[in-house]
Amino acid sequence: MSDTTILLAVTEVSRHHDGGAVKALDGVTFEARAGEVLALTGPSGCGKSTLLSLIGLLDQPTFGSVCIAGENLATVRQPANFRLQHIGFVFQFHHMVATMTLLENVAAPLVALGLHRRERRARASEMLAQMDLSARANFLPAKVSGGERQRAAVARALITRPPLLLADEPTGNLDSHNNTLVVELLMAHARAHGALVLIATHNPEIARLADRRLELCDGRLRA
Ligand SMILES: Nc1ncnc2c1ncn2[C@@H]1O[C@H](COP(=O)(O)OP(=O)(O)OP(=O)(O)O)[C@@H](O)[C@H]1O
Ligand SMILES: [Mg+2]
Repeated sequence: MSDTTILLAVTEVSRHHDGGAVKALDGVTFEARAGEVLALTGPSGCGKSTLLSLIGLLDQPTFGSVCIAGENLATVRQPANFRLQHIGFVFQFHHMVATMTLLENVAAPLVALGLHRRERRARASEMLAQMDLSARANFLPAKVSGGERQRAAVARALITRPPLLLADEPTGNLDSHNNTLVVELLMAHARAHGALVLIATHNPEIARLADRRLELCDGRLRA
C-alpha cells in the first residue's frame, strides 16, 4: 500500500454462513485513516458486528482481505499478540471479570505487555481518573452502575493505547448523558493518539458526531 496514512484497508470482504445461504457481508470495500472516527450504521442484521469481528481478528472472511497497518490479517501468525499490539475492543456488554476490581480489570491487558505491577496500577489509576472513576477504582464491577462499568470497559480498551479501536454498540444500555460521555472519550482518544475509531451504532446522535459514516444494508455498503 502506497499511502502510509491508511491504517485499515477492507477489500471485497465477504463473510458467508451455511454454505453461502447467509451472506452476513457481501463484497465490502473501504479504507480508513489514522485519527478518523467512523460510525458504522444500518439495520439489525446488516453485518456491523460481523465486520468488526473480522477487523478484530475474532473471525475470518470467506472472501477478500483486511489489512491493518499494511499487514494482511490472513498472514498474521499470532492473532492474540497482534490484537494486543493494535486493537482495543469495547462491546455492548462490558465483559468485566467479576472477581476483579475496576482497577484490576483495567490494568489486566498490561500484564500481557509485560509491564510491572506498579506501572500497571499507575497507568490504570490515571486512566480511571480520566473516566471520572477514581472513587470507584477498588469496587467490583457488580458494585458500580451500568454507566460506570461501561466507562471502565472503555478505560480497559484504551489502556494499551491501541491505534485501532473497535466499539460494538458501546452505549447500547446507557442513558444519553453516559452515551455522549463514552463517545466523547473514544473521540478524545482518537485525537490525542491519532487512533482510528470504528463505532457500530444504532444511535443517530453518535453517527452525527463521527467524522464519517459507513452505512451497511444486507451485508453491502451503501454509497
Ligand atoms: N454464525 C452464524 N451463522 C449464521 N448466520 C449468522 C451467523 N452469525 C451472524 N449471522 C447472520 O449474519 C447477519 C449479520 O449479523 P450481524 O450480527 O453482523 O448484524 P448486526 O448488524 O451487528 O446486527 P445488530 O444491529 O442486531 O447487532 C445476520 O443476518 C445474522 O443472522
Ligand atoms: Mg451487532
